[in-house]
Amino acid sequence: MLKKRVEDALNGQIRVEADSSQIYLSMASWAEVKGLEGISQFLYKHSDEERMHMLKLVRYINERGGHAIVSELSAPKKDFGSFQNLFKELFEHEIHVSDCINELVHVTLEEKDYATHNFLQWYVAEQIEEEALARTILDKINLIGNDKGGLYLFDRDIRQISADSAAQDESI
Ligand code: FEO
Repeated sequence: MLKKRVEDALNGQIRVEADSSQIYLSMASWAEVKGLEGISQFLYKHSDEERMHMLKLVRYINERGGHAIVSELSAPKKDFGSFQNLFKELFEHEIHVSDCINELVHVTLEEKDYATHNFLQWYVAEQIEEEALARTILDKINLIGNDKGGLYLFDRDIRQISADSAAQDESI
């Protein structure tokens, strides 16, 4: 049975993951409208992954005798200025998500809830991957600068990144 404090903290994380899904969906739509086909595909996929992170929490809370709460969400931004800025925001958002996960892990230790602590290790590992991926993308963007040919190749190659991460998910 989940302690109330752990249940509340997990419910808080449901909202963080749902918010992430909304933000990446809005980014995907912006990129699609701008004709950045590969980037938008990457972001649609990323949005789906965040929903999966949220669902995993919902199922866990209910399985442990708690009640997963689906809350209202804030409307994400509609305009991201440039694709460089978009990926900078994505990276910063992932750092924020990692901080939230770390806080959550801290609560489970304080409450001596080792089952939830164990469950959250999947999220800890996922955040390492997501931060690394976002950092790799930012490095590539820095290399491109304002080169249009570079953007064309980046937009094409990022589809492959989506496909690679999809393959990894299927192997979980
Ligand atoms: Fe679910 Fe990108 O963190």
